[in-house]
Amino acid sequence: MILPWFHSLMLAFRFPFPDCGVTYLKKRMATVLIQGASRGLGLQFARALAARDSVTTVLATCRRPEQAEELRSLPKVQVLPLDVTSETSVAAAAQQAAAATAGLDLLVNCSAILHPSGRGETSLRDVSLAGLQETFNTNTFGPLLVAKHFAPLLQAGSGALGVQSEDAKQRHAAVLVNMTAKVGSTTENVLGGWYSYRMSKAALNMATKNLSIELGRGRKKVLCVGLHPGTVDTDLSRPYHKNVPAGQLLSPERSVSHLLAIVDRLTVADSGRVFVWSGEPLAF
Ligand SMILES: NC(=O)c1ccc[n+]([C@@H]2O[C@H](COP(=O)([O-])OP(=O)(O)OC[C@H]3O[C@@H](n4cnc5c(N)ncnc54)[C@H](OP(=O)(O)O)[C@@H]3O)[C@@H](O)[C@H]2O)c1
Repeated sequence: MILPWFHSLMLAFRFPFPDCGVTYLKKRMATVLIQGASRGLGLQFARALAARDSVTTVLATCRRPEQAEELRSLPKVQVLPLDVTSETSVAAAAQQAAAATAGLDLLVNCSAILHPSGRGETSLRDVSLAGLQETFNTNTFGPLLVAKHFAPLLQAGSGALGVQSEDAKQRHAAVLVNMTAKVGSTTENVLGGWYSYRMSKAALNMATKNLSIELGRGRKKVLCVGLHPGTVDTDLSRPYHKNVPAGQLLSPERSVSHLLAIVDRLTVADSGRVFVWSGEPLAF
């Protein structure tokens, strides 16, 4: 029998011995980071995670913290500046995060744009180098650079999210989620168009796969997945909501609740895969 005060002490210091019992694996408290949390799904991830008793700290990043009033008002939330298109900004945010926490159990890369114009290209005539570059900078290169600079913190996570393996060699330290989109799947593409966004998400899926291999080695595994949230009532897809059949536009609350349920069920065997909000795997 373990005394209650000793139990609290072990949790407070992120009890570092994974082989000492499933009880402690299940009861670990989590520190999470949401990248791109000023609005939309990122803001909802911050709200939903802050509401969990098992989450002690939510680090939430955005370009302009001074304007992110709702985010700053959430309990447990610490807001850090991060513009995902600047590696200097990503590195500085990682340093600030490292000063705030010894490890991260979950990082969600949310930032994205559909296109700098706000609308996806409908034909080749609309494609421009500037549009492609800005979309890739935000949707693909940025999230990969976030993975690069935050990997040490993820590798120092306590494995509080997802399902831990019985096999000590297969346990994970943290979960990395890259928010992707079904339209980035080559096999799902029947309509064409949206060159920049589709290509940026297809490339992000490849980055997720690569990350799952590299960060899946050794004893400090980071489980990496892509998640498609459905078509959600946020600014990103707003110009197209009128085309969504009645009842199929998800609220951010519903989408994030499904996505977090997927995260809670993840095992190391899922690393490198992409899942749709409803839980099915997506071929990409
Ligand atoms: N909504 C949908 O229907 C849908 C469907 C499929 C996939 N997704 C994916 O889900 C994720 C979240 O999308 P959402 O619907 O929540 O979009 P959203 O409401 O438009 O929010 C986009 C977020 O990205 C941030 N962002 C943009 N550029 C940034 C930069 N350079 N640095 C840092 N942050 C930046 C925005 O911050 P600012 O406030 O500073 O602009 C904002 O917080 C995206 O990856 C998106 O591709 C969404």
